[in-house]
Amino acid sequence: MASSSLSLVLLLCLAAAASAQLSTTFYDSSCPKALSTIKDAVTAAVNKENRMGASLLRLHFHDCFVQGCDASVLLSGNEQNAFPNVKSLRGFEVIDSIKAKLETLCKQTVSCADILSVAARDSVVALGGPTWTVGLGRRDSTTANEALANSALPAPSSDIVNLTDAFGPKGFSLTDIVALSGAHTIGQAQCQNFRDRLYNETNINSGLATSLKANCPRATGSGDNNLAPLDPTTPYSFDNVYYTNLKSQKGLLHSDQVLYAGGSGAADNIVSNFASNPAAFSSAFASAMVKMANLSPLTGSQGQVRLSCSKVN
Ligand code: HEM
Ligand SMILES: *[C@@H]1O[C@H](CO)[C@@H](O)[C@H](O)[C@H]1NC(C)=O
Ligand SMILES: *[C@@H]1O[C@H](CO)[C@@H](O)[C@H](O)[C@H]1NC(C)=O
Repeated sequence: MASSSLSLVLLLCLAAAASAQLSTTFYDSSCPKALSTIKDAVTAAVNKENRMGASLLRLHFHDCFVQGCDASVLLSGNEQNAFPNVKSLRGFEVIDSIKAKLETLCKQTVSCADILSVAARDSVVALGGPTWTVGLGRRDSTTANEALANSALPAPSSDIVNLTDAFGPKGFSLTDIVALSGAHTIGQAQCQNFRDRLYNETNINSGLATSLKANCPRATGSGDNNLAPLDPTTPYSFDNVYYTNLKSQKGLLHSDQVLYAGGSGAADNIVSNFASNPAAFSSAFASAMVKMANLSPLTGSQGQVRLSCSKVN
């Protein structure tokens, strides 16, 4: 009797431990084509429009930083209206179409949160970047939190202390922050997010500033949504050129350029290492993405597997 109740307790402990963890083989029997379906759709979307790879990577980041990687960012309204997201996040229709395909293959099996996490990885790979293994078994939230999105997502006017305040409590080191910022080796930003940098800052390459000003006028309200590549040198190659840009004062956002202060900054050595050693960047980026993808997932019987990513069941 004592020994059977002990094994029951042991069993419950094991079950709890298993449910709190993601597994790389989660869909192997329940939906064996899940990973290849996502990869094929992401590759096609990125081939059609390179920027989509950037947009899908950013969606995963903005999901995970707000109540964990639970697809809360995909619920209509809510977080989508937060300042860092509104008229900025994109890629929802690609995720919706992957979800629709997976629903026909394996009904209510693959979560939207897992689709986002795998799509982010496949996007980076499609643009020539490193790969990593994505743990699976996340479940989808039934709630989203706009106020939390506003406070948890870092603003482009952030300095290093602001970045450390945003990333540190979630378990990211300064090396992780510098590596993750390397995501800005792809994708675009709107004039309103780099205007102050063009007109108020002196640590910007003058040739770059001149060319960007042509499409981003000083006056607020004019050209606010005009786009420029975050990496002006190789905009759609997932490489380490972001860091050589920083060393020549070609970071687009204030929050990018603060990572390199010309030799005296806290992150300067990390930037220099990633600029001269592409393999060091690749491995630091991959391990920081694994950390990001593991931020407080819902598992076991928590949350739900949504039927449609934009609304709760
Ligand atoms: C370090 C703090 C960060 C700040 C302050 C920041 C801020 C921004 C801003 C303001 C934009 C442009 C949005 C627009 O103008 O519509 C942007 C774009 C982007 N961000 Fe970040 N970001 C940060 C970190 C990250 C991380 C960790 C990732 C992913 C790992 C990421 C991936 C991207 C990508 C790929 C784009 C381009 C999206 C597209 O073209 O659709 N960012 N970010
Ligand atoms: C950066 O941190 C300072 C000090 O806490 C704060 O006043 C400021 O609003 C923060 N800026 C951003 C962009 O988060
Ligand atoms: C940047 O310059 C604009 C005018 O061009 C001004 O309105 C704004 O307050 C300045 N911002 C900072 C951070 O100095």
